[in-house]
Amino acid sequence: MATDACLPVDTACRWFYNRVMIEPGRVTLSDEDTITRSGPARGRERLSLELSVADAAAPESPACRTVVPSDRDALARLMLDAYRGTVDYNGETLDDALKEVGSTLSGSYGRFLFDCSFVVDGGTELSSASLVTSFNSGESGERALLAFVMTAKRHQRQGMAATLVRHSAAALRGKGYTRLELVVTTDNAPAKQLYARLGFRPVQAD
Ligand SMILES: CC(C)(COP(=O)(O)OP(=O)(O)OC[C@H]1O[C@@H](n2cnc3c(N)ncnc32)[C@H](O)[C@@H]1OP(=O)(O)O)[C@@H](O)C(=O)NCCC(=O)NCCS
Repeated sequence: MATDACLPVDTACRWFYNRVMIEPGRVTLSDEDTITRSGPARGRERLSLELSVADAAAPESPACRTVVPSDRDALARLMLDAYRGTVDYNGETLDDALKEVGSTLSGSYGRFLFDCSFVVDGGTELSSASLVTSFNSGESGERALLAFVMTAKRHQRQGMAATLVRHSAAALRGKGYTRLELVVTTDNAPAKQLYARLGFRPVQAD
């Protein structure tokens, strides 16, 4: 069931992950199938994590740092590597990934929170990322969205994504957010397992 089916078709055609619906000045989450560029529409689920005071004490990790605007190209390469071959991949190219990351950083999914978004920086490439935005949902005010979580294939199952999401949760809690929301493709088993492990729970439509 949709939370708010309200966007023009062109903005529904999100390539990696149809998780956010946008209309001018407004971003909403939807768990309803939307039009995809290729292939059948797929189910989505909304999940939410209650942020607790304990999140604010997330441990430091040496290679972990916040995102900066110049990370755009490296984030795009990471995105392509991480998503290629998954249920959310529809044949996108590096150029597509560059546009997706660029629009994420510039606010297409809500104001990008650089200080709540983290990467594992391997020196020459980024190994993992947790990208967070803040969107205004009207009556509910500012809400935090986990827009992308991704780990390069050769670094997966090393705990990077879990660590970075915990860092994002801690940073968000420190800024006063009480919930972190996301939308996941129903068939994305690794992501769903990760989120369950982190304590995300299904939420009903608004
Ligand atoms: C989902 C993804 C981000 C996980 O990244 P990761 O760094 O490998 O995750 P972690 O190592 O932190 O895993 C933490 C826990 O999540 C679960 N998990 C992660 N990957 C899993 C997989 N492939 N299968 C089953 N469970 C998995 C496990 O419970 C894991 O703990 P464990 O290794 O001790 O069993 C990564 O597979 C990815 O980039 N996928 C493509 C992009 C994507 O789908 N992003 C999410 C969109 S909603």
